[in-house]
Amino acid sequence: PAVEFDLEAPFTVEYHDAVGSTNEVARERATDGATDVVVLADEQTGGRGRLEREWSSPAGGVWLSIVTRPAITPARAPLYTLAAAVATTRAVREGGVDARIKWPNDVVIPVGEDGAYRKLAGILTEMEGETDRVEWLTVGIGVNANLDADGLPEGATTIRDEAGEDVDRRVFVQRLLEEFDDARSDLDGVVPAWRELALTLGQRVRVDRSSSELVGEAVDITDSGALVVQSDESGERETVAAGDCEHLRP
Ligand code: BTN
Repeated sequence: PAVEFDLEAPFTVEYHDAVGSTNEVARERATDGATDVVVLADEQTGGRGRLEREWSSPAGGVWLSIVTRPAITPARAPLYTLAAAVATTRAVREGGVDARIKWPNDVVIPVGEDGAYRKLAGILTEMEGETDRVEWLTVGIGVNANLDADGLPEGATTIRDEAGEDVDRRVFVQRLLEEFDDARSDLDGVVPAWRELALTLGQRVRVDRSSSELVGEAVDITDSGALVVQSDESGERETVAAGDCEHLRP
């Protein structure tokens, strides 16, 4: 059933009580030619995370996937993922919770001053297209909203645990989609907005690359969203386009 949302952003929201993965449903909509459709579910039975991980998605969270057909080259697609991280972080912050971004697109809550964090939300983007043109792009966003961290994987937190109360999920989704629409309408503003919200910059990090690992200080992200690390080993600034990073204790 389609749910009425009072949205300023141009999305049609398709609601499900339970699905395997909203990214799967979004892929079907995308291959059918849809755009600006949001697939939202109360529960996912086969939620997927980045790097082939499972994503625990019990009822009470916000699990959604946005179907878009942006007029961009695949090289700019990572900006859509960063835009989703910025939008999700802003929507959480508007609810009074101090969310920040861990590179590339985890929404986290800082714990103390030394870069430690708990993870609140994650983003999984999928895309189809040619070398010069994106055909469709789906952005899957999972937010641990009205849940207890107890039942979730180690290191996770929830809006309920952080705010001490549940969030109105309709209001939250509305804020998130409006923030996402603003961010994607100004792709050049995404990286500056990301920098402002970043927890990773200034941290000591370890980044796994396919052949080796890189340890050093995270100093910036590039205009396309790659992480720039001042490497301990080489003493040079090295750039990592994709992967996972770990914050190290100073
Ligand atoms: C990650 O941090 O590993 C990304 C997690 C992405 C989870 C969301 S929930 C909605 C959408 N459907 C999925 O199966 N995954 C994404």
